[in-house]
Amino acid sequence: MGRVGLGLAVGCAVVTCAIAAALVSRSVRRRWRWGQAVALVRELEVACDTPVGRLRQVVDAMAVEMHAGLASDGGSKLKMLLTFIDNLPDGTEEGTYYALDLGGTNFRVLRVQLGGKGSMILSHKVESQPIPQELMTGTSEELFTFIASILKRFVQSENDGFQQLPDDRKDLGFTFSFPVKQLSISSGVLIKWTKGFSIEDAVGKDIAQCLNEAMTKIGLNMRVAALVNDTVGTLALGHYNDEDTVAAVIIGTGTNACYLERTDAIIKCQGLLTNSGAMVVNMEWGNFWSSHLPRTSYDIALDDESPNRNEQARITGFEKMISGMYLGDIVRRVLYRMAEESDIFLDPAKNLSVPFILRIMLLEKKCRHHPEGSSTNFLDDSPDLTEVGRVLEEHLKISRVPLKVRRLVVRVCDIVTRRASRLAAAGIVGMLKKTGRDGSGGVASGRTRGKPRRTVVVVEGGLYIGYTMFKQYLNEAIGEILGDEVAPYVLLKVSEDGSGIGAALLAAVYSSNR
Ligand code: BGC
Repeated sequence: MGRVGLGLAVGCAVVTCAIAAALVSRSVRRRWRWGQAVALVRELEVACDTPVGRLRQVVDAMAVEMHAGLASDGGSKLKMLLTFIDNLPDGTEEGTYYALDLGGTNFRVLRVQLGGKGSMILSHKVESQPIPQELMTGTSEELFTFIASILKRFVQSENDGFQQLPDDRKDLGFTFSFPVKQLSISSGVLIKWTKGFSIEDAVGKDIAQCLNEAMTKIGLNMRVAALVNDTVGTLALGHYNDEDTVAAVIIGTGTNACYLERTDAIIKCQGLLTNSGAMVVNMEWGNFWSSHLPRTSYDIALDDESPNRNEQARITGFEKMISGMYLGDIVRRVLYRMAEESDIFLDPAKNLSVPFILRIMLLEKKCRHHPEGSSTNFLDDSPDLTEVGRVLEEHLKISRVPLKVRRLVVRVCDIVTRRASRLAAAGIVGMLKKTGRDGSGGVASGRTRGKPRRTVVVVEGGLYIGYTMFKQYLNEAIGEILGDEVAPYVLLKVSEDGSGIGAALLAAVYSSNR
């Protein structure tokens, strides 16, 4: 081999070595980045961990805060709002009642026909439509004129056998799912907006009066007979169907709970008398906070950037860890950090930097066809997670996501969901503990002849109803906290449209014509 040949061979060897070295280094880098992504998920898992011991601490903290909120206004993060509802529907209600349900992503108008004892709800008709985004941040007049006109159209469109409204005034149930300080059953002032609504001039106003005025203006002869929170509507329908129902929980865009409390336990209203000796209390538990809540750096960042941030739950409260409005954004934040630190998405993941772009879409919808309990993969039934890939492409514009990355995305969703559902379970047991139905205090606290009392809690909301794993994790956690002896006596019942139908039922209970 001549000098030229030798030079050529050496050159080739050098190039080959360089290529091999580059390939090795690229693969080492890729593996390192993948390791980073996996480490981030592991870190998240540890930070979101909710062993039963921690859940029990949350239960105790919830019960303590409930006591404090009932003792004085402002005494706790839990507002424990009075509702003035001392009687829940029992099946004797009769007649046709209307209801409006405003509070989440959709707005509903309902008509419910009640048959009185024995026949119960004869029929109900619901019309639902999304609230235009601009009305969520406009003026109160615009919002109330809009809902009053939808109601008027609904009433006028009735031609399916129901009579048109008679000349006399009709009583209406109004579900308004925001914190309201009630002045009576049919009036109350808005304390603050939540869930992305922000209509400044409405804060401090009597919400029922706003609607009454809007209805009068457009010539609709109706009056708010019951102004209720969605939890209260849900409890009303739950109790109508099963008289052992003592509490209601909403887990949807927002989250909250209400329950039946003895009036003598509502210290802040000493001397308050009710016919039944009890009153429904709207906890506004979205604002609950305890140092026992597992809080991550993503939650802290979410606090700093979320809407309504100067109001309640400045520090991550229950709502931000549990409800559909926020879960998607926690997932987005984790994925964004993964994309930044580990480069796992092949496409530039620019959309991941947009707050609230995920909302509940990714989390809520993908499990629709998931057969209950058949697998832990709640996002997608297909073995290659095609649906996850489709969501990432459609909503985040990230295409060509490898299977192992899709699996990681599913894991992130699972961690965030599991924490949410287990914390909601702790909240429910907290309520049971406060009312002596958790079995911890023996006979004095809810046991009859050694047995715990049958207790029904109705649960409503898209996250609980539409999301199989959420429900499963929540039920599991209730069982873990309560233990085998008490858990069988606590029934969680799913409610649908309870918030609206319940408002119509309460309008019937508190109707001036009754
Ligand atoms: C509101 C509650 C409501 C809950 C569920 C929260 O954001 O503050 O009043 O019950 O959402 O809709």
